Amino acid sequence: MNDLDPKIVAAINGENGEAKKAGTRNCLMNRRQFLLTSGIATSVVMVGIPGMPEAQTPAVVSTYPRKFIAKLSELVADEPFDFEYPDEGEYAESILVKLDKEAGGGLGPDKDVVAFNYTCTHQGGPLQGTYQADDKALGPCPLHLTTFDLTRHGIFISGQAYQSLPQVLLELDDDDIYAVGMFGLIYGRFDNLQG
Ligand code: FES
Repeated sequence: MNDLDPKIVAAINGENGEAKKAGTRNCLMNRRQFLLTSGIATSVVMVGIPGMPEAQTPAVVSTYPRKFIAKLSELVADEPFDFEYPDEGEYAESILVKLDKEAGGGLGPDKDVVAFNYTCTHQGGPLQGTYQADDKALGPCPLHLTTFDLTRHGIFISGQAYQSLPQVLLELDDDDIYAVGMFGLIYGRFDNLQG
């Protein structure tokens, strides 16, 4: 022990700034080193699956179905057409309606055809049969009276809900209206495609 260089002993004990001079730290790992090291460790955990080469790691990619809904020429203003989207599971019931008034996301030459999910975003109240032609609105919800504006992407006008009604994205192919996606999370689902 007596043969040890005094500077090394000082560095080990963190004395007189010898730790820095000797290229060491009192602490074995500083914060930056810790974060870098733990980040690398995390990456390894995420990528490496014991016994399974990376190339064989399964990947799940979900996409919305493209579903025919109705013919544009057959829609009558203010007469809702009901359908289910993106599947036929719980909370999939939706409304397609020609508002006869330009709307956000509206389809057709007058940009007035829109579609929304029928389930209230507050606590899942059913909005079927509540379309109001005068206000171009859906509601009031039978549970706590929220009303949603269908001309402005389903934003709530009044009531308890604080999230807009999920809007079904539409596409026009000649006279055919297709549902192709959704904007907003359907009530009761953690993923719109997991009904
Ligand atoms: S569930 Fe619709 S307002 Fe509460």
